[in-house]
Amino acid sequence: MKFLVINGPNLNNLGKRDIGHYGSNTLSEIEELIRGKAEELRVEVEFFHSNHEGAIVDYLQSAPVDSSGIIINAGALTHYGLSLRDALLDAALPVIEVHLSNIHAREQFRHHSVIADTAIGQIVGLGSHSYLFALEYLAHEINRGS
Ligand code: DQA
Repeated sequence: MKFLVINGPNLNNLGKRDIGHYGSNTLSEIEELIRGKAEELRVEVEFFHSNHEGAIVDYLQSAPVDSSGIIINAGALTHYGLSLRDALLDAALPVIEVHLSNIHAREQFRHHSVIADTAIGQIVGLGSHSYLFALEYLAHEINRGS
């Protein structure tokens, strides 16, 4: 069982970017934590990062046919990325939206997610644990359903 872990704009700068909100882990370190959790859960993960909405759309359109679900931190695209939203709907896979910070406790413009209703759920504010809990949920729930 394979899950796609997608990160959007500016998340490649984790570790040196607004540590108060996003913590000090780099994206590679977070991906390592996710890989460890995937091994524990005996599932596969494939990582993709881009700063460009169109590149994420391209990736979703060519997602491996054996993918079982998507974990996405869309960065700021969360709040306005309508072509990303359409691509997530078209992918027709279970989606979990994750954020390192609690977007609901921050500026007003971050409270709204244009992708939230494409997702089974949203996990916010738990730092890198947001991704790990998302993977646990998908691994257990998708396994149960298959
Ligand atoms: C973020 C929250 C977004 O509002 C912001 O634009 C990010 C990171 C998070 O993980 O907390 O880039 O998605």
